[in-house]
Amino acid sequence: PITAELDNSDRMTVGGCLLSDLANQYGTPLYVIDEASIRSSCRAYRKALKQSYPGDSFVLYASKANSSLAIDRIVASEGLGIDVVSEGELITALKSGVAGEQIVLHGNNKSDKELLLAHESNATIIIDNQHDIQRLDKLISHKEGSVRLMLRFTPGIECHTHEYIRTGHLDSKFGFDPEQVSDTFAQLKDYKWAKLVGLHAHIGSQIFELSPHMDLVEVMADFFLRAKDLGHPIKDLNIGGGLGVKYIPSDDPPDIYSWVETVSNAVIKAFDTRNIELPRLICEPGRSIIATAGLTLYRIGARKDIPGGKTYLSIDGGMSDNPRPITYQSTYTACLVDRPLANTDQVVTIAGKHCESGDILLNNIALPTASSGDVLGVFGTGAYNLSMSSNYNRIPRPASVLVNNAQSDLVQVRELPEDLLRYDRLPDRFIAKG
Ligand code: LLP
Repeated sequence: PITAELDNSDRMTVGGCLLSDLANQYGTPLYVIDEASIRSSCRAYRKALKQSYPGDSFVLYASKANSSLAIDRIVASEGLGIDVVSEGELITALKSGVAGEQIVLHGNNKSDKELLLAHESNATIIIDNQHDIQRLDKLISHKEGSVRLMLRFTPGIECHTHEYIRTGHLDSKFGFDPEQVSDTFAQLKDYKWAKLVGLHAHIGSQIFELSPHMDLVEVMADFFLRAKDLGHPIKDLNIGGGLGVKYIPSDDPPDIYSWVETVSNAVIKAFDTRNIELPRLICEPGRSIIATAGLTLYRIGARKDIPGGKTYLSIDGGMSDNPRPITYQSTYTACLVDRPLANTDQVVTIAGKHCESGDILLNNIALPTASSGDVLGVFGTGAYNLSMSSNYNRIPRPASVLVNNAQSDLVQVRELPEDLLRYDRLPDRFIAKG
């Protein structure tokens, strides 16, 4: 998590930068990303694997959590590969300097262009369904060489997370049904371009329990053995991502070390029991790499006191820069960044500026009396905020700054309202003649 420190006047700093100065310099809303915190979670995954897993291992950053040139560059420099799910994420990873061999392409409906680009850049492709196999056969069977594939299947593991972010249950749209896996292994033997290197499954996101991944490993080990028996020299066991993070004090996820240790032990046991050589263990964390490395700064504007009722403080952003509360009822913590220690004397609801009653970022939080112009920091917004942002109400996306060692660098420029007109066209017949 970010290491927030206080300056001499008890104002909050992150990465050595005073947050209210960042708000003044770059404007609000502003995404702030703490580089040291990203690096430390990347290192925690790698170190934990080194300590608890005797075989090879590899960590892929699930860049859907937050994809940009700067972030891909940081995680790659820590020795992680990149998991991408679209042409956009793929070209971002490539442009940031990540080697194709370190990239895997996911997706339940990959376009021909995505498949070809992945193949040309020597990325690994996660085949999700027959469509992937048929398209690849058409696109590359006449070409030289082969393509590394992992097969994704739906493991049928339930975990207690929000319905929209559960992916391991059997009626999920992702991956082959377990009943189709053996036939698909056999079928892949027919294609000379197909080199099956591994097996993939992902059971969901923001998971606090350890047992679902232990169960997953057992299920995967059986299929791993079957692939080997059918003559595929597979080595990679990719167990997906999903480790949860602490958004609010009552959230209690395992830390990276215990999660890695638990899955490592499960893999060692499962492969030992089946008498197969340890696989290269791959995991694909997104949220646990970057969620708590980020925060968002907003400026407080209007206030509404409902007589005998609640108080709303409105901020200059909302569901367009953080759609998680309205989408998943997600919860966050926040404080006034220049008075984090001041006594709280009011309970307020933080409302976004969008024309939608549900555009509420935080419900009933305790704050010191705040006035218009105060800077509010909302914590834990590094994952699935910018990457899920929209232009609803034609609101431009915020800027992002990276902070480290008392230095701040703009890593994504703030959009302007005029930018949003760039793709609009007025039909000629609407334009008055003469
Ligand atoms: N691998 C695969 C195949 C995935 O589908 C995902 C996330 C991950 C890895 C990374 O999972 P993580 O470690 O971040 O939990 N928008 C939602 C989260 C959707 C996650 C989708 N897949 C949210 O804001 O909570």
